[in-house]
Amino acid sequence: MNFEFSEEQLMIQQAAKDYAERELIQDVLERDAKAEYPTRHVKNLAELGFMGMLVDHKYDGGGMDTVSYVLAMEEISKIDSSLGVIISVNNSLVCYGIEKYGTEEQKEKFLKPLARGEKIGAFLLSEPEAGSDATSQKTIAEDKGDHYIINGIKNWITSANTASTYVVAAQTYPEKGHHGINVFIVDRNSQGISLGPHEDKMGMRSSDTHSVMFTDVKVPKENRIGDDGFGFTFAMKTLEAGRIGIASQAVGIAAGALDRAIKYSKERKAFGKILAKHQAIAFKISDMAVKVENARNLCLKAAWLKDQGKPYGMASAMAKQYAADIAMEVTTEAVQIFGGYGYVKEYHVERLMREAKLTQIYEGTSEIQKIVISRALLRD
Ligand code: CAA
Repeated sequence: MNFEFSEEQLMIQQAAKDYAERELIQDVLERDAKAEYPTRHVKNLAELGFMGMLVDHKYDGGGMDTVSYVLAMEEISKIDSSLGVIISVNNSLVCYGIEKYGTEEQKEKFLKPLARGEKIGAFLLSEPEAGSDATSQKTIAEDKGDHYIINGIKNWITSANTASTYVVAAQTYPEKGHHGINVFIVDRNSQGISLGPHEDKMGMRSSDTHSVMFTDVKVPKENRIGDDGFGFTFAMKTLEAGRIGIASQAVGIAAGALDRAIKYSKERKAFGKILAKHQAIAFKISDMAVKVENARNLCLKAAWLKDQGKPYGMASAMAKQYAADIAMEVTTEAVQIFGGYGYVKEYHVERLMREAKLTQIYEGTSEIQKIVISRALLRD
């Protein structure tokens, strides 16, 4: 087995690291405090090719592999995981789904500007009563011949306000259950779309999250992705890819906390010696490092399987569940190592701890990942 990265993968990792350490670090605390969207950084990262890095060159993307994506996501999320989720949703939920299942016309019209990062995408699956239970879609897309009329509410939508392109799941044939669900590409400026207030979140405060209301929104038939009733399969397949992005974001959060804890342990003195010389702290650092390394390897394995065109649904669920759970553990331990300093904002680790929590919740909670993994293992 070869654990070495290619020159290109290392270059992409370095570019992400450089940008994060040079630019994101400057205003990450301020944006967290003000819950301010990182407009300047999204523009810069688009110019560097990160917003559509997985999309083929043919559709104006970066044509990079998923391993490179995982490496870049980790570096960005070490410093600023709000940027991480914006990149992840655009790349692996929105662009990936349109590129894999969309028509050539849809790719030309919608994918290209998303891949160039000129437009941002959002993925609208969750609803007030359909979070984990994603088959229970209440948003209705009524078939009117040459168009659909969408009515309903979507919740917890990342980039809802900044996105121009929505990928929306809605029920067309309630009597068919999840086989009646369709997915549509919807222009965010369509008449009848309105947004709820900005959600005042615990962490990842610099990404914008809103509910989205649809009132008689007219969507042309050619905007439906895939065959009639393909929507739920589309959502599940897209989430398989999305979970690799969130898993690598969680690795970044954990690795960022570990780096900071190591540095602090070598500087801070207690009882006449640096923290690193106290076994209680050294063993914590060791445990944290093993967890980060395991999570990173699970992410890379899932990414590698995807790049090889092999099934990766269970691997991405394993990576997501483990990385999210250890991100919570590792960031909590980092706060403990910093003591009182860890509890104040200036030292970043309390922010990383708040950010880690969300990775256990969105794109499928840790419990949902266990359903996916156990069903794959126990299937007849
Ligand atoms: N690929 C293809 N098809 C799949 C699939 C997959 N990975 N997983 C399930 N399906 C199919 C099943 O085969 C089944 O089809 P048939 O009836 O034809 O056999 C159908 O989907 C329904 O599956 P289940 O019977 O297993 O349905 P369920 O209700 O018991 O469980 C679930 C499904 C896996 C729990 C699913 O509801 C799920 O993943 N829930 C979590 C949703 C989620 O991750 N939401 C995240 C929101 S997006 C977000 O957070 C973005 C953001 O902004 C950051």
